[in-house]
Amino acid sequence: MSEPRVTAGAPAVDEVQYEAGLRPRSLADYIGQDRVRDNLDVSIAAARGRSEALDHVLLYGPPGLGKTTLAYVIGNEMGVPVRATAGPVIEKAGDLVAMLTNLQPNEVLFIDEIHRLAPAIEEILYPAMEDYECDIVIGQGPSARSIKVPLQKFTLIGATTRAGLLTSPLRARFGIVHRLDFYAEADIEEIVRRSARILGVEIEGDAAGEVARRSRGTPRIANRLLRRVRDFAQVRADGRITLDVAHAAMRLLEVDDQGFDEVDRKLLRTIIDKFSGGPVGVNSLAAAISEEKDAIEDIYEPFLIQAGFLDRTPRGRVVTARAYEYFGLTAPRKDSQLW
Ligand code: ADE
Repeated sequence: MSEPRVTAGAPAVDEVQYEAGLRPRSLADYIGQDRVRDNLDVSIAAARGRSEALDHVLLYGPPGLGKTTLAYVIGNEMGVPVRATAGPVIEKAGDLVAMLTNLQPNEVLFIDEIHRLAPAIEEILYPAMEDYECDIVIGQGPSARSIKVPLQKFTLIGATTRAGLLTSPLRARFGIVHRLDFYAEADIEEIVRRSARILGVEIEGDAAGEVARRSRGTPRIANRLLRRVRDFAQVRADGRITLDVAHAAMRLLEVDDQGFDEVDRKLLRTIIDKFSGGPVGVNSLAAAISEEKDAIEDIYEPFLIQAGFLDRTPRGRVVTARAYEYFGLTAPRKDSQLW
């Protein structure tokens, strides 16, 4: 595994606890994703008004955009605790059954990476979500029998980077489904200023804008960059984050104007140099740049596509003219491939 990148969307292992301090706790403090926020505001107010559990919620979108944060915000707004786990962590059916049977009325069960649940475990969720009951198998072999255990009404919040990886029976059981998109730069700038306030560091307006511009529309990256820039300001300047300090810090971090780092550059450059600009299949690309296919699909690609540097076609990935321009190259004429 390579070093964690400052612009990676996924959290580093020790980052989870740092992040927690900057996370908004209420919808009112949550910046950006206005449509999702407004919709959740209505759903939560309605469920609360009826003193019912909120319908099951599926949140999907690239890493670092606030799916886990939203799950905790929902719990907080509903006034209930959030019990959290993750798809790959649940190994035995009994682990999930134990969590389900321990839930109190209206509580939230948050399952991160829900697309990675083992099929046999996923099936436990179907009656749990639909009828608030659980089938437990007792004994083994011919004497095995199944008993139904009633559950309290609860809310399942599932998070996934790609809703397409979910099986349709599972997806169909979520009443509330929201896709989180990359944030507008102005929203990221506001998040940077809010985080700076919480961290107690002074940041000039244009410096906050500069950190925001290089954060790939992703709060987790913005907060991580902010921390590194704060370190730089403390050690190499007087502690204040000015525009000059922000620039110098990000130069040292090798985060460029677009928020690209070496993996992004390598990915684009490899398609240009080794695959004549594409199309190239994701497996070949993964092998060529020594990255996991999933990481390419979940982390790097969504942003490069959104930023207009990469296209996904039925025959594979192709770089755009913009990618050539980024490297100071001239894009080959489209029809030249015919010759
Ligand atoms: N920190 C991380 N994500 C945030 C968001 N969406 N709003 C406010 N602060 C955040």
